[in-house]
Amino acid sequence: SNGTMCANGTEGPEATETDSSGTGRMRKPLERNGSTQNDTVHLERRLGLFSGVALIVGTMIGSGIFVSPSGLLVRTGSVGVSFIIWLACGLLSLLGALAYAELGTMNTSSGAEWAYFMDAYGPAPAFLFSWVSTLVLKPSQMAIICLSFAQYAVEAFVTECDPPRGVVKMVALVAIVMILFVNCYSVNLGMAVQNVFTAAKLVAVVIVICGGAWKLLQGNTQHLSHAFDGPMPNIGAIATAFYTGLWAYDGWNNLNYVTEEIKNPSKNLPRSIMIGIPLVTLCYALINISYLAAMSAQEMIESEAVAVTFGNRILGALAWLMPLSVTVSTFGSANGTLFAAGRLCFAASREGHLLDILSYVHVRRLTPAPGLIFHSLIASAMVLHGTIDSLIDFFSFTAWIFYGGAMLALIVMRYTKPNHPRPYKVPIVIPVVVLIISVYLVAAPIFQTPRIEYLYALLFIFAGLIFYVPFVKLGMTPRFMNKVTLFFQLLLEVVPTSSMAM
Ligand code: ARG
Repeated sequence: SNGTMCANGTEGPEATETDSSGTGRMRKPLERNGSTQNDTVHLERRLGLFSGVALIVGTMIGSGIFVSPSGLLVRTGSVGVSFIIWLACGLLSLLGALAYAELGTMNTSSGAEWAYFMDAYGPAPAFLFSWVSTLVLKPSQMAIICLSFAQYAVEAFVTECDPPRGVVKMVALVAIVMILFVNCYSVNLGMAVQNVFTAAKLVAVVIVICGGAWKLLQGNTQHLSHAFDGPMPNIGAIATAFYTGLWAYDGWNNLNYVTEEIKNPSKNLPRSIMIGIPLVTLCYALINISYLAAMSAQEMIESEAVAVTFGNRILGALAWLMPLSVTVSTFGSANGTLFAAGRLCFAASREGHLLDILSYVHVRRLTPAPGLIFHSLIASAMVLHGTIDSLIDFFSFTAWIFYGGAMLALIVMRYTKPNHPRPYKVPIVIPVVVLIISVYLVAAPIFQTPRIEYLYALLFIFAGLIFYVPFVKLGMTPRFMNKVTLFFQLLLEVVPTSSMAM
C-alpha cells in the first residue's frame, strides 16, 4: 500500500516532501527511503538534467505570472520599478537556489528545509517547519492558485467588468472539491491531470510571448517609454511588491525536495538550478513586456485578469484561448500542490507529528484521502476568508522566514561542519546576501504596513511548540483520540498503511 503512495510520489517534489516532515524523532532508515516503508517501490534515481529543469520550471510557472503583474504595478507605481522588481525576484530566487544547491549536495537526503534544519539546528526547528508547511504553507498555496483559477474562469464570461467576489470564491471552492475528488479517486488520474495541464501551461506562455512580439514589431512601444514616471515607492511597499513577484517565482527550491531521485545530484542539482531559474526569469520578463505591448500600465492595473485582457486585445477570434489556457494551467498547479500537500501531511502524521488518522489511506483506492480532505478544508477556509493579494503576502511572509532559516543553516554549518564534503560550494556572500534580504522581506512589512496577519503567522509558528513538547517529544496521546480515529476510519474507509496487504 505504501508502495502505491510512493509510486505517485516518484513523480516529483511530492515524493519526498514526505521526508521533510519526518521530524522530531530521528528515524534514519525510514527517512532515507521516504515513504517506501514497505520496500515495495524504491525512490530510484531517475531524474536527469532535463527532468530536473522541467521540474523547476513546471513548478515555478503557475498562476503568478498571469495574476501578479497588476498587483506589482499598484505597489511600485511605475512600469520601470515593477520591471526591475520582476528581474530582482528572479535573481533572488537564483541566489537562494544556489545556496540550496550547496545544502542539497551536502545532505543528499530529500526533504529540503526539513533535512537542513535537522542538521543545523536539531529536531524542534525542523518540527516547526513541517508544522507550518502542513498547516499553512501548502494550504495557502492551494487557496491562492484556486482563487486565480476562479478569477480566470469567471472573467472569461464577464469580459469587461469586475467579476463578482462571491462567484469567484464559489468557483474556487468548486475547483478545490474537483481536485480533491481527482486525487482521492486515483493516483494515476492525479498524475495524468498533472502532465496534461503542465503542457497547457507552456502553451499559454508561448502564446503570450509571440503575441507581444508581434505587437511590438508593429510598433506598439508607447507603453514602454516613460517607464519611470510615477512616485517612488516607499521601502515597505517595495517589500510587499517583492512578495507579489516572489510568489510567481515560488517553487525554485522544489528540486531539493527530491534530491534522492536525481541522478548524480552533485552535478545535476546545481546545473538544473542554473538553467531553470534564468529560463523562468527570461519568460517572465518577456511576458511582462508583452502585456505592455498590448495595454497601458493603467489598463493593466484595472484589469482583473491581465492575460484575458491581453487575449482580447491581441488574439482576435482566438481570444478564448487565453482564459482557457490559464484556467487549465492553474488547475494543474493546484492539482500538483494538493498532491504534494497530501503526502506531506501523510508523512508528518506517520512520524507522529499530526493526528494518526491523517496518515491513513483508502482501503481500495490507496489514496491518502484523510490528508487530502484535511488540506482542502484548510484551503477552503482560506479561500472564504482571504483575497489573492492578502494570501500571497501571508504566504510569502511565512515562507521567507524559513528560506532565510535555510540560509542561516548553511552559514552555521560552514562553522559547525567545516570538513563535511561539499561537492558544490557556493560563495559565502550569496547566502549572506539572501539572508539579509529575507530579514528585510520579513521585517519591512511589519514595520511599514503592519497587518494583523503577520502577527498571526508568527504566533502560529511558535504555537507549534505547544504541540511539539507533549505530543512529539514526550509522545503522549489523549485517550479519546482512539475513538476519534476509529470514527473517521469507518466513515472514510481508511486504514493505516502498515495494516494493508501488500
Ligand atoms: N510560482 C507558482 C505560481 O506562480 C506557485 C508555486 C507554489 N509553490 C509550490 N512550491 N508549489 O503560481
